[in-house]
Amino acid sequence: MSPKCRVRAPSNIALVKYWGKRDASTAWPTNSSLSMTLSTAFTETWAEPTKAREHEISFVRTNHATTSQAPSRAIKHLDFLSRECGFSTKLKISTRNSFPMASGIASSASGLCALTLAALGAWTHSSNLAELVKTFPIDKLARFTRMGSGSACRSLLGGLVQWHVGESSDDQRVEQITPAHHWDIFDQIMIFSNEHKTVSSSEGHLLAASSPMFAARVAGLKEKLALVTNAWRERNFSLLGPLIEQEALEMHAIMMTSTPPVNYIAPKAWEFLTWLREVRATHGIQAFFTLDAGTNVHVLGERKYLEVLTKLLRNDWEQNIFMLDEIGSGPTLDVCEEIDLG
Ligand code: PMV
Repeated sequence: MSPKCRVRAPSNIALVKYWGKRDASTAWPTNSSLSMTLSTAFTETWAEPTKAREHEISFVRTNHATTSQAPSRAIKHLDFLSRECGFSTKLKISTRNSFPMASGIASSASGLCALTLAALGAWTHSSNLAELVKTFPIDKLARFTRMGSGSACRSLLGGLVQWHVGESSDDQRVEQITPAHHWDIFDQIMIFSNEHKTVSSSEGHLLAASSPMFAARVAGLKEKLALVTNAWRERNFSLLGPLIEQEALEMHAIMMTSTPPVNYIAPKAWEFLTWLREVRATHGIQAFFTLDAGTNVHVLGERKYLEVLTKLLRNDWEQNIFMLDEIGSGPTLDVCEEIDLG
């Protein structure tokens, strides 16, 4: 058995979304974004050097189908990392997700974050994350991960994380705004479909500026980001909730008014949003939704509302898959002898 570098990298859910790029070649977004790092939704990736002539990628014990682009995207990213960092040894990669890919839980965020850390960890023989960060500081890792998937750079840190757009592409950075323990927030993820998106987020980003509403969105984002950050810092959910719902719908409005238009929200998810608003009004539950580029819905709330929400969900939405998540503290890296699917 040869030692393998094992990384567990979380997904994240954006409260202020990244949708639109200033420069695709340097993964420079139009705006700063803000996300909550998750815990239960993660990608686990193992990497070890191989004498093979090509990188080998395998998706292990997953009930969830992979996207057809996933292996070639991973290989492209490994080639990019090899070139950037000067490592020529090929890698044998095994990976699995704890959730369905390409369906609204950010598999590219956790996947590309895990792949970047595992590959660099294997090449540098790092035995933990702190050791890897000595060779590759967080801002360097952030650049590497976002070249694979923009939102992946926010998965490098735990808690509430801001990806600062900066004055130039080189000026971008990621920052932890509050640690995981700052606030006990749940994320009840409602999985309405395991089907793959018909338009990838990479394609969607390029369409964003074609929406006649895009300029108005961008003009208001700085202020919105400040409002969301303050509500979070003050642990004020009745202020935060309406802001994040409006933000999610604004992003989807951009998607739907782009040329060509993109609709990620299935009828069942729309139905669910109406249900949630009704439940909020009749039961006084402070739980609010946000959406990614997919048809699944994230319902966020303070822990004290979870029990009654869960009861109502089981009653009215029992046919659907729920996945309960919470704020996570970021990725881990260690070395193991075997792939343990525990
Ligand atoms: O990281 P990408 O290129 O897959 O873009 C993700 C964009 C959204 O998930 C829709 C929003 C975000 O900020 O995470």
